[in-house]
Amino acid sequence: MKVLFVSSEVFPLIKTGGLADVSGSLPTALQGLGVDIRILVPGYNAVLAALKDLTTVASLDYLPQIGQAELQLGTIESTQVKILVIKAPDLYERDGGPYADPQGLEWQDNPARFGVLSKVAAILASDNSPIQNWRPDIVHCNDWQTGLTPAYMKLTEHSRAKSIISLHNMAFQGCYPQQWVASLGLPSTNFTIEGFEYHNQLSFLKAGIFYADAISTVSPRYAQEIQTTAFGFGLEGLLSKRGHEIKGILNGIETDEWNPATDQYLTKHYSASKLAGKKQVKKALQQQFGLDIDADAPLLGVVSRLTHQKGLDMLLPHLQSLINQGCQFALLGGGETALESAFLEIAAQNPNRASVTIGYNESLSHQIMAGCDMFVMPSRFEPCGLNQLYGLAYGTPPIVNATGGLADSIIDADATHLANKTANGFVMVEASADGLIASIQRALEMFRTNPKLWKQLQTTGMSQDLSWAKSAQEYLALYQSLV
Ligand code: ADP
Ligand code: GLC
Repeated sequence: MKVLFVSSEVFPLIKTGGLADVSGSLPTALQGLGVDIRILVPGYNAVLAALKDLTTVASLDYLPQIGQAELQLGTIESTQVKILVIKAPDLYERDGGPYADPQGLEWQDNPARFGVLSKVAAILASDNSPIQNWRPDIVHCNDWQTGLTPAYMKLTEHSRAKSIISLHNMAFQGCYPQQWVASLGLPSTNFTIEGFEYHNQLSFLKAGIFYADAISTVSPRYAQEIQTTAFGFGLEGLLSKRGHEIKGILNGIETDEWNPATDQYLTKHYSASKLAGKKQVKKALQQQFGLDIDADAPLLGVVSRLTHQKGLDMLLPHLQSLINQGCQFALLGGGETALESAFLEIAAQNPNRASVTIGYNESLSHQIMAGCDMFVMPSRFEPCGLNQLYGLAYGTPPIVNATGGLADSIIDADATHLANKTANGFVMVEASADGLIASIQRALEMFRTNPKLWKQLQTTGMSQDLSWAKSAQEYLALYQSLV
């Protein structure tokens, strides 16, 4: 089975969020199951710098926007997964992130940048592929950035391979003015409701959903949610037409990278059977952040994009009073300016009790996950969420809203689930500030008054199999069902 896995970000080469984690770790797990897999990514500066063994395997000239371009093949050193890189300097070699410039403004030519990514994937799966000795049976697309691939495969490249699109987040759809249809070489006859048109625009994501042979989401609950108005972002109608086919497969985590017993970013290690080390990690974190060194003060952690999706505005109304009650708070994240400022303000007013770091920092994200006592993740919607899974692995019980992958992975510490030892965190009864504070108070109560039960909660999460083992099998079964 040959699979081309197409993604706009792949850990450890380039990452803005969970898509990168999945694009790094799922192909590794599939390769372990015997799948002959190659990843396809744009050749951003960071990608070119990180891959040491790149060799040119073909030249590329498929779209006017691509300029002088080549396809290069390399290997991700840590996982030994092969990766194809589109080296197109005009499109990808610039300062800034994969989607936006250093000021955070979206690149104006994103339709060209990701149109080219989509097109190259489709070409590689066609009889016109410049790589004759490796033709995929399956093209696995991810999110809007690769949404045009299934359309190109069906409409222009007449590919015999099958396509899958995995939906990681319906909030981002890649909608652009109609003129892009012609400049990206798409047939204008398919610019209709039964095609890639969405409210008079070209929609990358709709193209993917409409033309893919299979659709998956990153959790079973999200597969259901996106068929409703509240979560479908306008595409619920189309999604519910294909509803019975949408396969929800919960993400796994890279258990080598995210393991408190071996974590390269921690100076002290711990495990479910030797939890003592976690106290030292907490102490080190308090020291590093200038917080009072206090083993008993409950330390609440957040690592997150600061956007409406993540619901952290619901924490703000109660945060000062939690601190007044003796809690400590550590946040790492970035995003909306108003949220950044509000959290920074709390930190400024409580220098010994709250620490807020704005920015992206891989090592700090591990240290917070390990050093905190509980992890706060009140997302309004969450296709899967990886941070709550990292929280489970690190004995840092997550406090979450009941949505998407959070609902599928966190089992509330109510009487029943504590008694049968399946509880691993706290689930809000309602997506509101009051709902959130109620679950935080329940967590604090247990943390302060019942260390034995708290330890049970921690070790339940830490003993779970959070790896890709089961979910990678499900993807493999999905591939096999298509060919
Ligand atoms: P999403 O992809 O929606 O942002 P996920 O929970 O799936 O949410 O994944 C987020 C990933 O990004 C996790 O690996 C998390 O640790 C990481 N992350 C988010 N914000 C930061 C940050 N500021 N610094 C470092 N890592 C971050
Ligand atoms: C998206 C979602 C997140 C998911 C990640 C990886 O970024 O917001 O919930 O975990 O993709 O699938």
